[in-house]
Amino acid sequence: MQMLYPKLRSADILVLATPVYIPLLGEMQNFINRLCPLIEPILEKRDGRTRARLHEDVKIRKIVLVSASGWWEKGNFGTVLRIAEELAEDSSVEFAGAILRPHAFLMDENKEKAEIIIDALKQAGFQLVKEGRMTDEVLETISQPLISEEELRRRFNDSYRKVKSGQKPN
Ligand SMILES: Cc1cc2nc3c(=O)[nH]c(=O)nc-3n(C[C@H](O)[C@H](O)[C@H](O)COP(=O)(O)O)c2cc1C
Repeated sequence: MQMLYPKLRSADILVLATPVYIPLLGEMQNFINRLCPLIEPILEKRDGRTRARLHEDVKIRKIVLVSASGWWEKGNFGTVLRIAEELAEDSSVEFAGAILRPHAFLMDENKEKAEIIIDALKQAGFQLVKEGRMTDEVLETISQPLISEEELRRRFNDSYRKVKSGQKPN
């Protein structure tokens, strides 16, 4: 982490990238905790909440979330998204958006859509760096469904039932 602090201090944008693990990967929570030294502990009250600011020598002006999940709907990102937004609010930095890819593992079997999604990801990166924000259109393209909700649930459940009954999963 000591090696990371100088890089974090000189970065313009902090990109938090994590899978959804009911709801947050432990390593990501540890990383967020270790961002504390970047925050100056002078507390202010804004909109009814206690907040602080980054130290003067920290250049970060925006925080962005990149996240992948296994289940179908974007609602699964709700808590992870809130944690990233909360970090931005606590440190008085703009939350500049979230790149969310639900049922990400299905990109492997849908190469055509995966290519469109990866192109949109690159576009989102360019937009963020050049314009400081990502358009809804590009973010929607990245999050687009790859299968129906019912079909995904059926697949998960069939796989599990097979394992439970001693057969090989799909
Ligand atoms: C322990 C664990 C918990 C998970 N919890 C969720 C969850 O709550 N919601 C969800 O949509 N996906 C969940 N997933 C699926 C992962 O978010 C998804 O497979 C993601 O693509 C994994 O990324 P990784 O391969 O980089 O770990 C979970 C996976 C694991 C292993």
